[in-house]
Amino acid sequence: MTIDAEQFRAAMGSWPSGVTIVTSRVGEEIHGMTVSDFSGVSLDPPLALVCASKTSVTTGLIEEGGCFGVNVLRRDQDTLSNKFASKKDEFKRFEGVDTYEAKTGAPLLREALVNLDCRVVAIHDAGDHVLCVGEIVDAQINEGEPLVFFRGGYGHFESAN
Ligand SMILES: Cc1cc2nc3c(=O)[nH]c(=O)nc-3n(C[C@H](O)[C@H](O)[C@H](O)COP(=O)(O)O)c2cc1C
Repeated sequence: MTIDAEQFRAAMGSWPSGVTIVTSRVGEEIHGMTVSDFSGVSLDPPLALVCASKTSVTTGLIEEGGCFGVNVLRRDQDTLSNKFASKKDEFKRFEGVDTYEAKTGAPLLREALVNLDCRVVAIHDAGDHVLCVGEIVDAQINEGEPLVFFRGGYGHFESAN
């Protein structure tokens, strides 16, 4: 007995999340994709994880390059999220996007709310995804508000106070 794909999507989609663009590099090749399945894992040592599809181009680069960048998107960056999720022009995603090279080599987006630079310490098998665990070697935290993803749509953070 197990749940079907529709139930899985409905359940997981009801977990509100932020939206990130996860990037990596192998030599001169850079790539990145939109990822909502991101989490902090450990404080000491500082670890973060992303759940990445085994079929995604970005996952291959993370595995080969041994690094990944996590860029938390701002409230007005839904177009950027869709761009990095779309297969149309998938190798032109960075066109017009201001990036800089992190210590690990991963490209980081200057306009993001938060940038994390991660060195891969483990890749765990998890069904049709892999869990990429990285040691956070650098972090840049900027002022602003996050983009939120809930039940297939984008929204904004609203303080309860
Ligand atoms: C809001 C949103 C969240 C996503 N979260 C993830 C995720 O956590 N993990 C994942 O593997 N793909 C996720 N995707 C899908 C990838 O961004 C998409 O499959 C992308 O085209 C993969 O790019 P690539 O194959 O060029 O690396 C998400 C897409 C959207 C729109």
